[in-house]
Amino acid sequence: MADLSLSARSLELLLGDWRGTGSAYEALAERIRLLIVDGRIGVDTRLPAERDLAERLSLSRTTVTAAYRHLREQGMLHSVRGSGSVARLTGAPAILPAPLESEYIDFSKAAPPALPWLAEVARQAVDDLPAHLADAGFDPIGTPALRQAIADRYAARGLPTTPDQIMVTIGAQHAIGLLSRALVGRGDRALTEVPIYPHAYEALRAAGARLVTVPVAPAGAEGDDDREQAAALVQAIRHSNPVAAYLIPDFQNPTGRTMSRDTRARVLDAAARQGTVVIADETTAELSIDRPGHFPPMAADGPAVLIGSVGKTAWGGIRVGWIRAERPLIRRLLAVRSPGDLGTPILEQLLVTRLLGRMDEILELRREQLRVGRDHLEQMVARHLPEWDVPHVAGGIVTWVGLGAPVSSQLALGARREGLIVAAGPRFGVDGPDALTEPVVRSGAVGRADHDRDEREDRDGHDGDEHVGEDALGTVLGDGAGVAHLTRIGQRADAGLPGF
Ligand SMILES: Cc1ncc(COP(=O)(O)O)c(C=O)c1O
Repeated sequence: MADLSLSARSLELLLGDWRGTGSAYEALAERIRLLIVDGRIGVDTRLPAERDLAERLSLSRTTVTAAYRHLREQGMLHSVRGSGSVARLTGAPAILPAPLESEYIDFSKAAPPALPWLAEVARQAVDDLPAHLADAGFDPIGTPALRQAIADRYAARGLPTTPDQIMVTIGAQHAIGLLSRALVGRGDRALTEVPIYPHAYEALRAAGARLVTVPVAPAGAEGDDDREQAAALVQAIRHSNPVAAYLIPDFQNPTGRTMSRDTRARVLDAAARQGTVVIADETTAELSIDRPGHFPPMAADGPAVLIGSVGKTAWGGIRVGWIRAERPLIRRLLAVRSPGDLGTPILEQLLVTRLLGRMDEILELRREQLRVGRDHLEQMVARHLPEWDVPHVAGGIVTWVGLGAPVSSQLALGARREGLIVAAGPRFGVDGPDALTEPVVRSGAVGRADHDRDEREDRDGHDGDEHVGEDALGTVLGDGAGVAHLTRIGQRADAGLPGF
């Protein structure tokens, strides 16, 4: 049985302007299929009854029945007599790992492959293990040596830190989840930018947050001037008084944008006055390619909780990240952690302790790889798809590509047929069209997606945790499993990119 169901009204909103020139049932089925593929209708979500949808869309029942049948034949819908039709996803889904690497190139994961010498350091870490084997090995806070190494790294980046301000986690995603649970209660407001790394808003929502959203412009949209962005964030913080604000100040995922130092200071000041805890996700902060200026950790500009990880620098498979916070919050985090997990594996911590000692070398290698990938992407798209807009990013691992039309879901489908998995723009929106079809900063739009959802919930009488709207202008061409994939995208462009 599906836990989630979509009302006819909600599906109508998701469908947007779906009618084409062909038959109505095919156009309807195609649009629903896109919504399932790009994740806006989650797998296992129950679709509205045929009669309800027909009524809502002013269609004949036969048209909706034919559309559902068509979807069933394609494996996108599963119907059980008496309990309705639920969404299914056949083949390689657009936002989940591809089944066989040889068959698919997966650009939906914004993470590089492992460092070439990672296995060698892992072997050395095994030699460090005997010193720990007398303990029980459950470590919810992190080994003293690793916490010291993380604190030293912050100090080297311009932020004095002591080990008792550090909690080691199972990757940055775990850190986001823990902070969401520690800071957000059911119904509390939490602020994010849109578009945004989707698993962050999922974690905030899972903790019960009502999201307040602020649109963010792609990198380079207004040169280096992000004063409007600062004003929009400050206004949203003052207006809606969120308990937490999740931000990615450096090379934001997915826009690649970096927040100026001035904007950081203004946002942190507004948050401090309001009692909003700023969570700065700095998972990619050190991945500069050629960003000018000095960007210390965000907490150097005002009170902020920081999240870090070796997932984007060394390898995501290590699954080690951390939180830097003041001690009372670290204590709270310890309390919320134990129901979910009992600590970070020791061997991985030993590995990361060694890796942090070689961070400059790691970053140098990544800088070069990312530079090659970025430049290659820019050149290839300029040559083969000149109507696309690829903003020049100064670092990080993703680029938000403007397609000039709301076609990113179709692109994702077409790419999949060619063996390439990309995430469509709407995947990165919290609530659909308001922010994403117009990717520019509009201070008047602050909090609008949330407000609109509230109105819909009031109307529809359900808590409507769903993505509503039309396709975004952008799609993400992250470097997937690394810059090699950027190279491969170039090769495919040479081959003509059929289906794009
Ligand atoms: C912005 C951002 N934060 C957090 C994560 C998750 O990082 P980790 O692999 O350390 O859990 C990612 C991974 O894509 C990310 O892009």
